[in-house]
Amino acid sequence: MSSDPTHGARVPSRTQVAIVGAGPAGLTLGHLLHLQGIDSVILERSSRAHVEQRLRAGIIEQPSVDLLVAAGLGDRLLREGMRHSGFYLRYDDVTHYLDFHPYTGQYATVYGQHELVKDLIAARIDTRRPLHFDTEVTAIAPSGPTPAVRYRTTAGERTLEADFVVAADGFHGAGRAAIPADVRGELIREYPVAWLGILAESTPAAPEGMYCPHPNGLSVHSMRGPRLSRQYLQVPADTDLGDWSDPQIWDELSVRCAAADAVPLETGPIVERSLAPLRSYVCSTMQYKRLFLAGDAAHIVPPTGAKGLNLAISDTCVLSHALGAAINHGITEHLTRYTATALPRVMAAQRFSALLTTTLHALPGDGFTEALRRATLDRWVGSEAARHELGEVYLGLPFATAPTFGTPIGAGASA
Ligand code: APR
Ligand code: PHB
Repeated sequence: MSSDPTHGARVPSRTQVAIVGAGPAGLTLGHLLHLQGIDSVILERSSRAHVEQRLRAGIIEQPSVDLLVAAGLGDRLLREGMRHSGFYLRYDDVTHYLDFHPYTGQYATVYGQHELVKDLIAARIDTRRPLHFDTEVTAIAPSGPTPAVRYRTTAGERTLEADFVVAADGFHGAGRAAIPADVRGELIREYPVAWLGILAESTPAAPEGMYCPHPNGLSVHSMRGPRLSRQYLQVPADTDLGDWSDPQIWDELSVRCAAADAVPLETGPIVERSLAPLRSYVCSTMQYKRLFLAGDAAHIVPPTGAKGLNLAISDTCVLSHALGAAINHGITEHLTRYTATALPRVMAAQRFSALLTTTLHALPGDGFTEALRRATLDRWVGSEAARHELGEVYLGLPFATAPTFGTPIGAGASA
């Protein structure tokens, strides 16, 4: 397959929806619009190889899986993904399994995010709709009847005009900056810690994901295959990846996950490393004029609980329905209500991610804070009601809007 999906074609000068960013949000949105017969152009700053290799969290909630499968994007995910019902929690020398499936009938699927991105890119290429890598958006003008996106390639700077612009350009993208700072309604929380992540050729520590809160800090033990583990260590926010040797990483992972009821952690060659800061961010205004934010462009969650990808997908479900209603049917009220429709689910995930983060990590605090953390862990282990509440969000709250496929949208499509 060519590394240039456009085979050298130029970016069109006009489209119905200009999408900035070819991450999970931009690519999923492009496909959901395609299914409604709507044109889009996706502009991506990085190379195809870069976005296809970017290692990120890989826990996909049931509603996200359902949407991807219904949209024809989930064949490999269903074949190769690992279906999990909950997670393990190990602390004070004892391992507990929190099985959420009985409460909701749902599962989480473990599947590398970059594998999903590869599937989404392949699907986009099949549609023959424009997707341009190495194309950086430098400015967005969201006003007027014809919003415009300014972009730069090796051939120089040009403008793409569109009926609507979607910034799906991640946390560090250009899109959010087009919304005046005083109307963004930003909510920010920074944690003084980061996650040092490894991908290693070793047997995963547990059959499903495992969190090990420890006085030294949290360790997380996940997987990408029967002999491929994905594991994380809580480290100080100012950590340099180079500060840690491979043996040091294994020693610390082993110490934090040791328990009387468990075999020692298997080690192996580390094939990838990553460092991710822990922060929560919400742009409470996800729409400004004809510009819409989706995914990390609008909100960031700390990695604990792996909600980022899932929020990106749920945003695109709401937004694709609203754009379809406006473009195919002239009904604009769903677009006007995009923020009001999407934000409550974002905040539910923020609440979950913040609770998981503050309960599982060793963070600065007094003895009382520590005792409350411990009490929360004990509740999760000891109370069905507490597990039900936690599991409902872990496995995935329903999307705010039912997906819309095909054109014209059916009369049954919900608001
Ligand atoms: N012009 C074009 N593309 C841009 C620009 C720009 N100015 N700025 C950023 N981008 C691209 C980035 O290179 C990236 O590929 O936008 C894309 C955004 O993709 P993601 O960061 O993957 O964000 P999103 O699609 O919202 O997916 C959210 O990503 O950060 C993880 O864990 C998070 O799983 C979540 C997921
Ligand atoms: C992952 O598998 O990447 C993962 C697992 C659990 C988390 C976050 C990420 O909480």
